[in-house]
Amino acid sequence: MPPKIMVTGAAGQIGSELVTALRKKYGDRNILATDKAVTRSQVSAGVLEQLDVMHLSSVERAIRTHEIDTVYHLAAVLSAAGEANPDLAWDVNMDGLKNILDASARHGVRRIFWPSSIGVFGPDAPKTRAPQDAALNPTTMYGVTKVAGELLCAYYSGRHGLDVRSVRFPGLISSEAKPGGGTTDYAVEIFYSALQTGRYTCFLTEGTVLPMMYMPDALRAAISLMEADPAKVRLHTGYNIAAMSFSAGELASEIKKHVPDFSVTYAPDSRQAIADSWPKSIDDSAARRDWGWKESYDLPAMAADMLSKLGEKLGLKQKTFNASGGPGRRKR
Ligand SMILES: NC(=O)c1ccc[n+]([C@@H]2O[C@H](COP(=O)([O-])OP(=O)(O)OC[C@H]3O[C@@H](n4cnc5c(N)ncnc54)[C@H](O)[C@@H]3O)[C@@H](O)[C@H]2O)c1
Repeated sequence: MPPKIMVTGAAGQIGSELVTALRKKYGDRNILATDKAVTRSQVSAGVLEQLDVMHLSSVERAIRTHEIDTVYHLAAVLSAAGEANPDLAWDVNMDGLKNILDASARHGVRRIFWPSSIGVFGPDAPKTRAPQDAALNPTTMYGVTKVAGELLCAYYSGRHGLDVRSVRFPGLISSEAKPGGGTTDYAVEIFYSALQTGRYTCFLTEGTVLPMMYMPDALRAAISLMEADPAKVRLHTGYNIAAMSFSAGELASEIKKHVPDFSVTYAPDSRQAIADSWPKSIDDSAARRDWGWKESYDLPAMAADMLSKLGEKLGLKQKTFNASGGPGRRKR
């Protein structure tokens, strides 16, 4: 029997692609995609149902009505948006998660995926290969909610027997929905600008290095962790997972291999302080050992694929840029 899955925050950067991947794997009828922000066309196409995770009774009704046994809980306020509105970040990220956990415990949901983030780390964590068990002292409200969320997930696993699984995603790069207010959004915006205007002003400095991942790897991480043998999932807080680390300047140089006239300037804003508080790379050996995590895309392979997909999406002719000209390599 395939799982009956509900996805919250399904219109967001991850959700919009995760729902497609889950529907392909488990069948359309087994996936209920929900979001607070739902357009009329999305509803009429049967793609999304409106669900605000702040309303416990609505969450309970959705789980009961659709006999949901698995939840991917993605609804959240991200790092930069959370610093702009810390009260909202606390409310959505904490009350929303607790509502999902309570409704799940009451109505027979067996397994939950909830993404944590590299935002759990603060300035005192090692900058290079930050370990799984580093001290978690974030300086953003987003990070505070991710640390508290990890502890809440572990608490519900122990107290209510809920099988909650989580990864600490790095910054995610993708070509479908645009990112929704994070500190790594530049790494998506830069591709649109390269193809549309040939110019980009980056809100982080050229030398800022952060851990990143291409969306196909992120989706595979979420689904494979959810399918892993329960005996192999030792942690119910959040597994470090890594794929690549690069500076804003290195990403710009990689894109220039395909779009030679592309020019980037750097004008750091308030998001620089958030980026500076995070590690440059993280140690994901626990995820590799426990449930076999391994990334497929490095920087050249990701950049080549992004340019090709975005070029197609934006209706650009292949000759305007050279999506196959770089040394892109998809690891196997
Ligand atoms: N995108 C990244 O780079 C990244 C990195 C690390 C962790 N994460 C985590 O992954 C999850 C999803 O991130 P994303 O990038 O898709 O975010 P996003 O901002 O693109 O999407 C979040 C979605 O949640 C919805 N939402 C907000 N408040 C809601 C509410 N009260 N009820 C229902 N829906 C609500 C929004 O409408 C939006 O569609 C979050 O927990 C985020 O912290 C993302």
